[in-house]
Amino acid sequence: MPSFDDPSHSHNAASVADVPPKEADHLIAACAFSEAERAAVYRAIETRRDVRDQFRSDPLPDDLVRRLLEAAHRAPSVGFMQPWNFLLIRQQETRERVWKAFHQANEEACLMFEGDRRAQYQRLKLEGIRKAPLSICITCDTKRGGPVVLGRTHNPATDVYSTVCAVQNLWLAARAEGVGVGWVSIFHEDAIKSILNIPEHVKIVAWLCVGYVDELYDMPELAVKGWRDRLSLDKLIFEECWQDDQDAF
Ligand SMILES: Cc1cc2nc3c(=O)[nH]c(=O)nc-3n(C[C@H](O)[C@H](O)[C@H](O)COP(=O)(O)O)c2cc1C
Repeated sequence: MPSFDDPSHSHNAASVADVPPKEADHLIAACAFSEAERAAVYRAIETRRDVRDQFRSDPLPDDLVRRLLEAAHRAPSVGFMQPWNFLLIRQQETRERVWKAFHQANEEACLMFEGDRRAQYQRLKLEGIRKAPLSICITCDTKRGGPVVLGRTHNPATDVYSTVCAVQNLWLAARAEGVGVGWVSIFHEDAIKSILNIPEHVKIVAWLCVGYVDELYDMPELAVKGWRDRLSLDKLIFEECWQDDQDAF
């Protein structure tokens, strides 16, 4: 299949009005995917899962990890800022330290729920830090691209939004590769930053536990375990403007 970046796959520059010739060389056909290709994309989206416990212990091949990172690096980013870095953590000792930081934060989180809900929370497994053979810490460098970044001028959070797009790309690519990913966010950011020596202006966006999986839940694990159900899409779609009289979610 021709690569999207393959210049031999471009249109004739002369046929593209109002676009300087050198730029027109980069315009390529953008037809819809074939039915099978579309089905594959939607299958990845629909069957992607957050994984906490189904990880196999065998390491992931380097070329596969590279493909996942290439997918992440193709994400959209504000002003093409590409604010992400990918810290690959394989050492058991480091993952153990991160797990301890998770554990402490998770105990604090547990106390924020009351009664039955707290007991239910305690039964949930919310990380695979020690079980998955690879962790990827995805960060956002808020200074990349200089003090004024195109498109980020009025919303500084767009650098983090961009990094989240990279996470999702990696997550979907992983699903297609038979690799499970679990996002862990229950920790004090400073605790992890000090373990990994991350500078102050760099934010941690995601800690991902990554490994081969043979089985996945067919719906979100939090739904399987009775914590929360998927909302009705119809209730989330508003025509033209915000509608106030929605049921409480
Ligand atoms: C920003 C973000 C943070 C998350 N943090 C955690 C976490 O700390 N622990 C956990 O078990 N799952 C975490 N998740 C996974 C969600 O619980 C999961 O996406 C949701 O329950 C839906 O399930 P699904 O991803 O399998 O569709 C996180 C997801 C996102 C997007």
